[in-house]
Amino acid sequence: MPDVFELGSEHEQVVFCNDPASGLKAIVAVHSTALGPALGGTRFHPYPSTDEAIEDVLDLSRGMSYKAALAGLDLGGGKAVIIGDPRADKTEALLRAYGRFVQSLGGRYYTACDVGTFSDDMDHIARECDFVTGRTVAHGGAGDSSVLTAYGVFQGMRAAAEAVWGEPTLAGRTVGVAGVGKVGRHLVRHLIEDGAAVVITDVYQPSVEQVVADFPQVQVVADNGALVRSEIDVYAPCALGHALTDEVVDALPARIVCGAANNQLAHRGIEKALEDRGILYAPDYCVNSGGLIQVADELEGFSFERAHQRAGGIFDTTREVFRLASEESVSPAVAADKVAERRMRDVGRLRGMWLPSS
Ligand SMILES: NC(=O)c1ccc[n+]([C@@H]2O[C@H](COP(=O)([O-])OP(=O)(O)OC[C@H]3O[C@@H](n4cnc5c(N)ncnc54)[C@H](O)[C@@H]3O)[C@@H](O)[C@H]2O)c1
Repeated sequence: MPDVFELGSEHEQVVFCNDPASGLKAIVAVHSTALGPALGGTRFHPYPSTDEAIEDVLDLSRGMSYKAALAGLDLGGGKAVIIGDPRADKTEALLRAYGRFVQSLGGRYYTACDVGTFSDDMDHIARECDFVTGRTVAHGGAGDSSVLTAYGVFQGMRAAAEAVWGEPTLAGRTVGVAGVGKVGRHLVRHLIEDGAAVVITDVYQPSVEQVVADFPQVQVVADNGALVRSEIDVYAPCALGHALTDEVVDALPARIVCGAANNQLAHRGIEKALEDRGILYAPDYCVNSGGLIQVADELEGFSFERAHQRAGGIFDTTREVFRLASEESVSPAVAADKVAERRMRDVGRLRGMWLPSS
């Protein structure tokens, strides 16, 4: 087993939850509550080993602290993993047992959907627990988060266009969207409405057909390899992580990379390769926080208008990240981390000021 104190040396709390009767094996990691209660989804995944589950939950929860801080939310970062096959192992009893463990944390951690968990699952968890978001619309939830995620990515892309071409618009540019699933297809709509030409690819043919039916002017290419070699000005990875490999960066004619996928950089140092090739990278967690903004808004009683307005703020945040990157001669990825860390420090510090209890 990895040394949790060493691997999670920045984390406040890691909780192992075990309920043999329902088969629940879960780990909740609270990375930081400097800005508020930790929020992050529950990933239900058949990890091959407990070690891999620990590494994933520590990594993901750290990422959530940075995403929430950069998005300007009064929330910290946390994440949970349930070890198992969601199709075979997910039962009402298991979810409710998990809910009781989350409840026992007294609000230090709020859970939501992630890979392998859905709004219906959150409704089950909420029968045992007050600290749940991402619920079904019938239960006051906000519904599909991909609408605001795509909107935020589009705002980040406008900020990148301004940094590169002087105008915050994609009009007259060609954007390559890799992955036209829930987020990618909404992004295509924003781009078309803004006057961009769009090239798409997806491994799942029905997704491609849906986009082409809605927007016949979209060009389709066979695969991601063909997309990154086509004449695109912007590359938008909206499928899986690690899209930016050495080969992709070498081949890419685009001036901007801005997409929804999490963890786009395949390895450390790739941001330097992007810079060397004159490609502006809009950090993934900066531009894809629209979904988090949505589930966070749900905690106040969901208002689409309010969440939409907040997601629109991703334009200014991305601009600030590019400004700092240029001022301090660092990559946008490093600049984004600095802005997030500064907010955790400066705003988090205020919580140390004594107030009379209400
Ligand atoms: N949905 C959200 O609110 C949200 C929020 C933040 C980040 N993200 C991230 O954005 C990405 C897209 O999310 P989504 O909700 O649209 O997921 P999705 O599963 O609906 O869509 C992903 C699409 O990518 C396609 N795809 C997979 N591998 C591919 C490949 N090699 N080449 C081309 N296409 C491929 C899939 O067929 C699918 O259509 C994911 O990385 C996700 O983690 C999503």
